[in-house]
Amino acid sequence: MGFFKEQWKKITGQDALDVLRDHHKEIDALFKQFDSSEDEKTKQECVARACRELVIHAQIEEDLFYPAVRAELPDQDIMDEAEVEHLTFKRLIAELGTMKTSDRLHHARFKVLGEYVRHHVREEENEMFPKVKGTKIDLQALGDEMADMRQELTKNLKPRTAGKSRSKSSKSTRGAQHTTR
Ligand SMILES: [Fe+2]
Ligand SMILES: [Fe+2]
Repeated sequence: MGFFKEQWKKITGQDALDVLRDHHKEIDALFKQFDSSEDEKTKQECVARACRELVIHAQIEEDLFYPAVRAELPDQDIMDEAEVEHLTFKRLIAELGTMKTSDRLHHARFKVLGEYVRHHVREEENEMFPKVKGTKIDLQALGDEMADMRQELTKNLKPRTAGKSRSKSSKSTRGAQHTTR
């Protein structure tokens, strides 16, 4: 799991889509590790980390990426659906945060969360991202800002608060400014 330590180093040259794809892969790896592990402590760690990364990921998308895409994309339906999906998986994360790992439906809930996130990521990567490529969004500048925000959130969001959503960021509309016009 060494990639967690290295991940926060800003990788220059990554555009917004790279930043999100990398984060998707890391989150997916945590769900896979949960599935393959027999050790209860490792499973708990996977749950805590995956929930925390998902909260950070959703925040970056909602504050920076989605507003930038919404401002440029004629098809708002895909964005509306993505936002509703975020609400649903954040609800599952909040529920997990109130449960003991020994609770009967805890592990099932986490697995359902994983399936849900996989579906959401597929739609982003296969349907939303190709459309984003055809817009005037400056993906390089947006990617830099998203990488910065990820670093900042990672420092500030303690694992214990993983189930709770951060208060509204002051950056909430900044993503909309990232066009090359
Ligand atoms: Fe998303
Ligand atoms: Fe995403």
